[in-house]
Amino acid sequence: MKSFIGKTVLITGASSGIGEAFAKKLASEKANLIVTARSKEKLLSLAKDLESAHSVRVHVFPMDLSESGGAKKLYDNIKESGLSIDVLINNAAFGKSSKFLDTEMELYKSMIMLNVNSLVELSYLCLPEMLQKKDGGIINVASTVAFLPFPFSTIYSATKWFVMSFSEGLYGEYRDTGVTIFALCPGATATNFFSIAHPDDDLSKANFDTSEYVVEQGIDGFLKDKNYVVVGLRKYLMAQVPRFFSRRMIIRMALSYTQKIWGKR
Ligand SMILES: NC(=O)c1ccc[n+]([C@@H]2O[C@H](COP(=O)([O-])OP(=O)(O)OC[C@H]3O[C@@H](n4cnc5c(N)ncnc54)[C@H](OP(=O)(O)O)[C@@H]3O)[C@@H](O)[C@H]2O)c1
Repeated sequence: MKSFIGKTVLITGASSGIGEAFAKKLASEKANLIVTARSKEKLLSLAKDLESAHSVRVHVFPMDLSESGGAKKLYDNIKESGLSIDVLINNAAFGKSSKFLDTEMELYKSMIMLNVNSLVELSYLCLPEMLQKKDGGIINVASTVAFLPFPFSTIYSATKWFVMSFSEGLYGEYRDTGVTIFALCPGATATNFFSIAHPDDDLSKANFDTSEYVVEQGIDGFLKDKNYVVVGLRKYLMAQVPRFFSRRMIIRMALSYTQKIWGKR
């Protein structure tokens, strides 16, 4: 795909952070949008602003994608409205930092449902139309934690390892079809993510990127048909560290890194 002009892009988690920044940037590049998240009012207000600023169509479909059947229901609602999806941005996800046993299982189930199941199901449902058109693709928002074990964010980082492996597997399967499957790997980015994942942690030592920078890198990598992009040189180098050490050493390094940033647990 050479540009987003006139394409219809489905963005999950568009009510804040990186998803909202994708919506703003792509509307400014003349893409029509389908935006989803749970917060209906935020989506409606975003849609109104973007439609009047950029003369594009922004369709709002609120949905809880952590609920069983949520992804299929969202897709069916979009199709019943007669819309087609040229690009899918699987962005909605959340994390929770704690010792493994200090968070309830229900929250982990909900996290896996949102971060993994809904992403797989939306990809499964949207891909056939893209293959038929030999155009478009999927942007899966993974993370730099997809390259390292991340003690105290173990389930969240495991979901992102899944997203990375899933994306690269599909990239291989569907190469040369005109459809791009791309994994975007941000590091710490200034969004609401940390108020949910790390409500009690001191964030002063984290090195945050802006959502706008993350999105710029994501759009550039996708349009260049890359399989993945790690946002920023420092974070790219961090993601390469596991190539040079034993896995046991990497666990120790990750542990001391998380303790330096978040303190001892
Ligand atoms: N911020 C970072 O440092 C960072 C780093 C690496 C990767 N990422 C990834 O970037 C992506 C976006 O996160 P963000 O940083 O922009 O965080 P954010 O500001 O918290 O945005 C998360 C989005 O997901 C939506 N969402 C949450 N639960 C949902 C549910 N059950 N059903 C449907 N939508 C739901 C939220 O909307 P509602 O609450 O309205 O539903 C919101 O729009 C995620 O995949 C995250 O893992 C973030």
